[in-house]
Amino acid sequence: MSMSLTRRQPIDPGHYGIAQEDLPPMEQGRFDPRDWFKPATGSDAPDTSTPPGLRPLELEIGSGKGTFLAQHAGLYPDVNFLGIEWAKSFCRYAADRARRHKLENVRLLRCDADLFIRHYVPDHIFSQVHIYFPDPWPKKRHHKRRLVQADFLRQLHRVLVPAAEPDTTGGENAGGPRIHIATDHVDYFEWMQEHAAQVADIFDRRPFVSPRSAGEGELVGTNFERKYRKEGRPFHGMILVKRP
Ligand SMILES: C[S@@+](CC[C@H](N)C(=O)[O-])C[C@H]1O[C@@H](n2cnc3c(N)ncnc32)[C@H](O)[C@@H]1O
Repeated sequence: MSMSLTRRQPIDPGHYGIAQEDLPPMEQGRFDPRDWFKPATGSDAPDTSTPPGLRPLELEIGSGKGTFLAQHAGLYPDVNFLGIEWAKSFCRYAADRARRHKLENVRLLRCDADLFIRHYVPDHIFSQVHIYFPDPWPKKRHHKRRLVQADFLRQLHRVLVPAAEPDTTGGENAGGPRIHIATDHVDYFEWMQEHAAQVADIFDRRPFVSPRSAGEGELVGTNFERKYRKEGRPFHGMILVKRP
């Protein structure tokens, strides 16, 4: 058991955390991560894994310390949430946080999101994708490392559930399969808009709408947003809706 990032308290990700080493060998091909929502053997937690396809699964990429998931997942107990976080200490912290909050509908995977989505994730399993304050990689020679780019958006299109014909039910979850993106970085936002334009054949771009879990005056309410807000930075966002 390791110690937390900020407090000298033990970290215990329990069955909420999944390490990259736990993934099946890549040669075995894609598999269904919805199985991760089965409760641990001997646990009296509810089985949130079934039936696949009927229970929506949302993905957050770059969950950091898991603030969005901790605030949001409790509001949607009938939706499952998978967070992917590359940094081991953050990922374990976020999984421990989900355990402490008893968020049985949350799992955290420590992995590179691009690798996981490209090689492991089958088609059509996520109802929504959340990308909040991704690393901006400001130097030109590092731009190729930026997560949000046309090729990756096409991968996300593949893993989003098929779009239904016009949805008239209203409400936050009635907007169809989509990607929510927010950043504080003007240059990265311009890049995002250029790359979104390159996938306009498969996504409609819409204005950003804050999730229900956001606090008063917040865009999303993640750790980075709160830190940057103190510095007075403006925020930018967009939603890309999968076209029918
Ligand atoms: C700037 S932080 C934002 C964290 C959180 N979303 C927030 O707003 O507080 C970006 C996070 O994305 C993670 N990250 C960057 N590239 C990633 C990748 N390819 N796969 C998974 N996580 C990644 C980083 O480790 C970092 O924790």
